[in-house]
Amino acid sequence: MNDSETTSVLGISGSLRVGSYNSALLHAAVDVAPAGMTIDIVRLNDIPVYNEDVRAQGWPEAVATLRRRISAADAILIATPEYNYSVPGALKNAVDWASRPPEQPFEGKPVAIMGASPGRLGTARAQYHLRQCFVYLNSSVLNKPEVMVGGAPSLFDDAGELTDDETRERVSDLLLALAKAVRLARGAAE
Ligand SMILES: Cc1cc2nc3c(=O)[nH]c(=O)nc-3n(C[C@H](O)[C@H](O)[C@H](O)COP(=O)(O)O)c2cc1C
Repeated sequence: MNDSETTSVLGISGSLRVGSYNSALLHAAVDVAPAGMTIDIVRLNDIPVYNEDVRAQGWPEAVATLRRRISAADAILIATPEYNYSVPGALKNAVDWASRPPEQPFEGKPVAIMGASPGRLGTARAQYHLRQCFVYLNSSVLNKPEVMVGGAPSLFDDAGELTDDETRERVSDLLLALAKAVRLARGAAE
């Protein structure tokens, strides 16, 4: 397998909590990733609240690491919770930090969004708000398949394993679409 057949994905969970369904969904993605795809997961726990005065003094270490890892990845996979019908502050804050110039790292990057919630709509509203941010950042957000995992408590076991085959298949389909988007982006760059 050469480099053109491998895809490095940076996984970002919008939840900071240990028992997060969204982090568990990302771990399920690692399990079902297609051959040649690696998914590394970055934690947002150490990202400070955005402050332009802080940025003016230099990137905080956790932000510099996040930006470096976004730039280095072929694609981004985000698992977002939904808070009050929108994107959780921790995730939006991380995107805000990462997006600041110079060298905005989301530019042109293939991005896949998924999310899990106990509610019936499975983060649909948060996903559409997040998608809007990436319009401004000029990323290539996949339109389909949509992975909106509702009723999460019944789909994961106590160890955080995604036990629902249909949802695993949907995540797998999303990753196949992401790998295809990376191939298309590479082709366009040649
Ligand atoms: C501040 C707050 C707001 C929430 N708002 C919503 C909501 O709008 N829609 C929804 O489906 N769930 C909502 N929830 C419930 C979350 O979906 C639930 O806590 C979920 O487990 C969070 O994701 P996580 O398991 O990855 O941490 C909210 C939770 C919190 C803490």
